[in-house]
Amino acid sequence: ARTLRVGIAGLGTVGAAVVRMIERRSAALAAATGCTVRVTAVSARDAKRDRGIDLSGFTWFDDPVALARSEEVDCVVELVGGSEGAAKEIVEAALAVGKHVVTANKALLAHHGNALAKMAEARGVSLAYEASVAGGIPVIKAIREGLAGNAVSRVYGIMNGTCNYILSRMEAEGLTFEACLKDAQALGYAEADPTFDVEGFDTAHKLAILTSLVFGVEIDVEGVSVEGISAIQPLDLTMADELGYRIKLLGVAQATEAGIEQRVHPTMVPKATAIAQVMGVTNAVTIDADAVGELTLIGPGAGGDATASAVVADIADVAAGLVRPTFGKPVARLAAPRRVEMQRHEGGYYVRL
Ligand code: NAP
Ligand code: HSE
Repeated sequence: ARTLRVGIAGLGTVGAAVVRMIERRSAALAAATGCTVRVTAVSARDAKRDRGIDLSGFTWFDDPVALARSEEVDCVVELVGGSEGAAKEIVEAALAVGKHVVTANKALLAHHGNALAKMAEARGVSLAYEASVAGGIPVIKAIREGLAGNAVSRVYGIMNGTCNYILSRMEAEGLTFEACLKDAQALGYAEADPTFDVEGFDTAHKLAILTSLVFGVEIDVEGVSVEGISAIQPLDLTMADELGYRIKLLGVAQATEAGIEQRVHPTMVPKATAIAQVMGVTNAVTIDADAVGELTLIGPGAGGDATASAVVADIADVAAGLVRPTFGKPVARLAAPRRVEMQRHEGGYYVRL
């Protein structure tokens, strides 16, 4: 039987959960893919840190780029994070020597995804990124595989678990923004620099990736208008509640005659809608597609096990021998993504999607 040798760079919240999941699901993965998935190599900064996992059976690399090039690795899983530095070097090194890459790193893809996709396609290998958008929700597979026969006109939703967790707890428990953010960090939901979460940049990264996939255009993260939730006060939530709304941080990408609009901002959503009911770390992505109509996927948007679920799904695809074009071929029938000038409604937040 075939074996896929996996090297994991980054053993934090997600990386450690991936190691555990591959061990736990080893028989099921072999049955589903016809291939044994085996972790052979790992890398992180601190070799002595207790991660609650037994690393004795794996080769340890102090240098994650050496792991990416190692001859004992067929598929490199990048779970370090960040758009520059080690993460970029790991992915570039792996693709340059023709290894498959699985990553959860939306910041890296938002900023360098176009070039990395070209590298992957030139070498005929996978650059897989299910975990980069909406954590445990298989939204990339849903769009690329499940909706292959549909033209999509809009995709929008709650794409940052940290922000939805903060807004939910501020509203339900009257806690401060700072206290809720601290808890989100302790639970492993937030980015290493939580500014990316609360200022909307993480949602913008995810939205730019979805826009590319849905509309067949190159990723253009600079084209996203971004406003985060850091200015929201408990009073804003109370006022919204009295008017029959909840405030959610939404990412919205839609085709317009002028091009593809990409925006991230706090939005007043009517309490009766499905998206308003989404609380805590949960994400929800709604896709407007011509054949199936409106489809909403709801599930955990962050956290070790939920994100590992998406990473392992990509590893399983590689094990099964599936290599897909990274973002789909640009069709460029629509104008490129464009920056939208936001118009504020009186009282602060945007009512319309
Ligand atoms: P994390 O807990 O901070 O883990 C990062 C890991 O990378 C740590 O093990 C760290 O080593 C290692 N690392 C950092 N710099 C390194 C370097 N220069 N060389 C080698 N290893 C290095 O992060 P995480 O939450 O697991 O997130 C990982 C990735 O998944 C990020 O791209 C993030 O955006 C994405 N993601 C996270 C979630 C989530 O819920 N956490 C969900 C979806 C996507 P040490 O442990 O030794 O410090
Ligand atoms: N920090 C991110 C979030 C992790 O809170 O949604 C999942 O991408």
